[in-house]
Amino acid sequence: MKFFVDTADLGEIKEANEMGVLDGVTTNPSLMRKAGGSDFHEHILKICRMVDGDVSAEVIATDYDGMISEAHTLANIHENVVVKIPLILDGIKAIRTLSSEGIKTNCTLCFSPNQALIAAKAGATYISPFIGRVDDISTSGMDLLEQIVTIYSNYDFQTQILVASIRHPLHVVESALMGADVATMPLTVIKQLIKHPLTDIGLERFINDWKAYQAATEAGSNGVDV
Ligand code: E4P
Repeated sequence: MKFFVDTADLGEIKEANEMGVLDGVTTNPSLMRKAGGSDFHEHILKICRMVDGDVSAEVIATDYDGMISEAHTLANIHENVVVKIPLILDGIKAIRTLSSEGIKTNCTLCFSPNQALIAAKAGATYISPFIGRVDDISTSGMDLLEQIVTIYSNYDFQTQILVASIRHPLHVVESALMGADVATMPLTVIKQLIKHPLTDIGLERFINDWKAYQAATEAGSNGVDV
């Protein structure tokens, strides 16, 4: 399973990359707004130079010609750029064209299995089901993911399932159990994957026992009554 970090913040991307488990980055206009203040294309280039993996950059146009034009510009920034295209009619047409041109696409804002089916038929490189936003409206994001996994497996589609809008570690483990190709998540969630209270308790006990062992050794005893 590939791990992408879902942020445009260069500091967060650097921190995630330094963990050594990062396979790519996803950005969107909201994340760009949050990161703030620099030229979009330069910003994407900086990310591509930091991370050895796919970097999603989203088009703003919502018409076919506009999306194709923006996609060509974005794809020229760096070979690792994946053009993010919204799952609307013109977006599907654009994905078909870009796919035939060999330009990688991430079909974004997917909320139904039929949308995922059409994106795969159009030749999207990635499909991004937004599971957290589905949960937000009292529907199951994981049920959506399961349906997409089944449909793609039934027909052997090559489109990779990129689980997006991940909110917590349970989303990650459930996505992994279903065999999703990629999980994109905030840095906070990547860090949460590591944490376990028993690890912390166990480590503290080992350190304390080691200190006691050393003290006993220095005092000429191993501290164990035999
Ligand atoms: C990633 O590609 C998506 O844009 C992102 O995961 C959306 O997450 P959100 O629902 O938390 O905004």
